[in-house]
Amino acid sequence: MTTVAVILAAGLGTRMKSSVPKVLHPVLGDPSLLWVLRSLPPSISAAVLVLHHGKAQVEAAVAQWQALKLLPCPVHTVDQDLPLGTGHAVQQAVPELERLAPKQVVILCGDVPLLTEASVARLGAKEASILAMDLEDPAGYGRVLQRADGSLQGIVEKKDASAEELRVRRVNGGAYSLPWSALKPALAGLSNANAQREYYLTDAVAAVAARLPVQVELCDPSELLGMNSRLDQAELQSLAQHRINAHWMEAGVTMLAPETTVIGPRVTLAPDVLLEPGVRLEGRVEVGEGTQIGQGCVFRDCVLGSSVEVRPYCIGQNASIGNGAKVGPFAHLREGTVLEEKVHMGNFVETKKAHLHAGAKANHLSYLGDCEIGERTNIGAGFITCNYDGYRKHRTVIGKDVFVGSDCQAVAPVTLGDGCVTAAGTTITSDIPAQALALSRVPQVNKEGAAERMRAKRKGSMG
Ligand code: UD1
Ligand code: CA
Repeated sequence: MTTVAVILAAGLGTRMKSSVPKVLHPVLGDPSLLWVLRSLPPSISAAVLVLHHGKAQVEAAVAQWQALKLLPCPVHTVDQDLPLGTGHAVQQAVPELERLAPKQVVILCGDVPLLTEASVARLGAKEASILAMDLEDPAGYGRVLQRADGSLQGIVEKKDASAEELRVRRVNGGAYSLPWSALKPALAGLSNANAQREYYLTDAVAAVAARLPVQVELCDPSELLGMNSRLDQAELQSLAQHRINAHWMEAGVTMLAPETTVIGPRVTLAPDVLLEPGVRLEGRVEVGEGTQIGQGCVFRDCVLGSSVEVRPYCIGQNASIGNGAKVGPFAHLREGTVLEEKVHMGNFVETKKAHLHAGAKANHLSYLGDCEIGERTNIGAGFITCNYDGYRKHRTVIGKDVFVGSDCQAVAPVTLGDGCVTAAGTTITSDIPAQALALSRVPQVNKEGAAERMRAKRKGSMG
């Protein structure tokens, strides 16, 4: 059986007060729409996105997710030129659905990010069903009307509801699974004769319910919360944070202050990971067993091995850290950084496209850009790779067992051979052979008594 998802995402999202399309606003680092697409179970073979506002931006984001293989199925897009209602939105997907010829259509909203894969699978497993929730305050949601046998009779929007219907606390979550053969004629028969002059998808669902039983599936309201404002966004983040942190603590992760710990949905943590307060892990992050991440660290798209010790206030993006490495405090690992096993990286070290082999050390105050640093090599304090000549980037290649003295600069492109030593303060402008000592310094001159004479002269001139 082929099931295709239709995801509604054409709305302007006025209440977000943003130039960014609503469905691209993030929850724990991943845009709302990415959450929704990733919740599609394997039983769904394709998705059709209904877009309009910020269409180009959304399409660019989808292309990027596709390239990164983050999506479970192919995603097609259609344009809803005018926002004439949820039913009109699904009507725009009809040609694409005809082409894909599904048996079943699952309809979801791109701004409802926390619906779980399990709930979408449960919805899609029924021939015809909707997700509903029971709320203390049914607010602006559509009221769900059921027959005596519990099946759906219809959905009434708040603005069209009678006083009696307004008291119904079972509301429409906006997620549906319907047979295409029944949905298609129901969409064709929609009219906008209602309080909002909109083509209501809910009317099409009621038309299907007149032909065959549509089940009402109750769902946890926290899964059906939509993102319509920044307040909603904050609430969604806090719900997701609670759900994800609880999951990892149950899996053997310690969090010293879980309420300050932010872990995205694509993070995986091994047992005995320790996260200090204020850690934020976003994108695709993997952390190995026994690794400790200090207070205030932020990692995005990084791999950390096992038994790594990251001291407080480090930042990493597109970096990997090998088993047993020690990093920080205050290290900045930029894109393309690879630290192999047992590398030591200390405070105020910035790296970019830097590959440090096993046991290499850079413990204090350095910029390591576009470079290779061999096994066991020691980088002294204040070393800088001068990788940029104002036009191009150049590489510095440092062999193994090298000792780079303090306050050296490597003017790239340049190579330092295995086992060489550079004296403190050396500006390295040409290659150093293996085992050689490189030294570029002005010889020191000591003038006997000159310091005292200088002080006396200055005192005198002050009158
Ligand atoms: C809709 C339901 C309501 C349900 C609620 C759940 C209808 C008529 N009503 O309310 O019963 O309780 O969802 O959240 O369907 N969209 C478009 N194009 C449009 C209009 C909307 O793409 O022309 C998208 C929005 O971007 C959003 C989704 O559809 O993702 C739902 O729209 P929204 O206006 O939030 O829902 P309501 O119509 O108020
Ligand atoms: Ca609406």
